[in-house]
This record gives sequence, structure tokens and C-alpha cells, in this order.
Amino acid sequence: MTHLVLVGLMGAGKTSVGEAVARRLGRRVVDTDALVERRSGETVAELFARGEATFRAAERAAVADAATTAEPLVISCGGGAVLDPDNRDVLRAHGRVIWLRARPETLSERVGGGDGRPLLADGVLETLTRLAAERAPAYEAAAHAAVDTDGLSLEDVVDRVLGAFAAEAA
Ligand code: S3P
Repeated sequence: MTHLVLVGLMGAGKTSVGEAVARRLGRRVVDTDALVERRSGETVAELFARGEATFRAAERAAVADAATTAEPLVISCGGGAVLDPDNRDVLRAHGRVIWLRARPETLSERVGGGDGRPLLADGVLETLTRLAAERAPAYEAAAHAAVDTDGLSLEDVVDRVLGAFAAEAA
């Protein structure tokens, strides 16, 4: 059995889609940011405040933990997790990776003021536009399939994610 892994930028809907997909599959959902916070006893913002490398090291450990769990899970990855080649490898080895894509304008609307995300402190739409261009190759390299979410309801996104997972896991 294989994990269903969701990747994509901040605001792509990984958390809400992950929860809904997990309900439909009868699986547990593991959110790597939540796992990082549980394991470290610090918030993502606190870890970032000690340097992004501190957060990325904790994230790498959480991704490896989740990916190597025997029970088949839905794993929602923090937006930058796929930048690390080790993370991409372990996620692809143990799961089918689905990239939730959206236009920067859509992502920006969904994250509102940034919701305390350290990387968005300097301007939400500008940063998401830049990160979308910078990170596209990493998402491409990580993903088995992509789902475009602009203008779709949560239910429609969930149906497409499950369809892509079934096709990839077959
Ligand atoms: C980050 C995304 C965040 C969180 C951290 C860094 C990123 O997760 O891991 O703030 O580099 O894109 P979400 O994508 O769940 O917001």
C-alpha cells in the first residue's frame, strides 16, 4: 500500500484537501508542518526565527518519518519540502505524489494575509509569484501527477486527486 502525498505552494489547499481525501479513503492524514511542531515542541515560525536551515532539518526528519510509516497515509507536505532531493526521493519511493497547482492570484486569495507564514512576511502575491516560478522544477520532479485547482470546489479537487491517485497507484 502506498501513501497519497500532496505537494504544492502555500495556499494550494494541501491541508483541507488532505483532510477530505483522508476521510474518503478512511486513512489518517499527516501534515508535515504539524509533525515538525509536535516533534520539536516549537512552532514553524519559531524554528524559522532560528534560521530557515533549522526548520528544513526538522522538516526533513518529519518527511522521512511520515514516508516510512507502514500504515498507508495521506501526507500533506509543507510547501517547500520538495526542494530537498532526499525528501523527493523518499516521498516518491513510498507514495504517489500529487501536485496541487493554482495561479498565484488564487494562492494569494487562499492564504489571505499570509496567516503567520514566515516566507510571506514581505508581500503575499509577490512572494507567491516568485516562488511559483522558482519552485516549478522541484514540484515537477517530485510529482507523479498534477491537479489544477483554480475555480474548482473542494469536492471537485478531491475527486480529481482520488482519480489521479487511482491511476498512478494502479
Ligand atoms: C513553507 C510552507 C509552509 C511551511 C513553512 C515553509 C514553504 O507550509 O512549511 O512556512 O517553504 O513553502 P504550507 O505550504 O503548509 O503553508
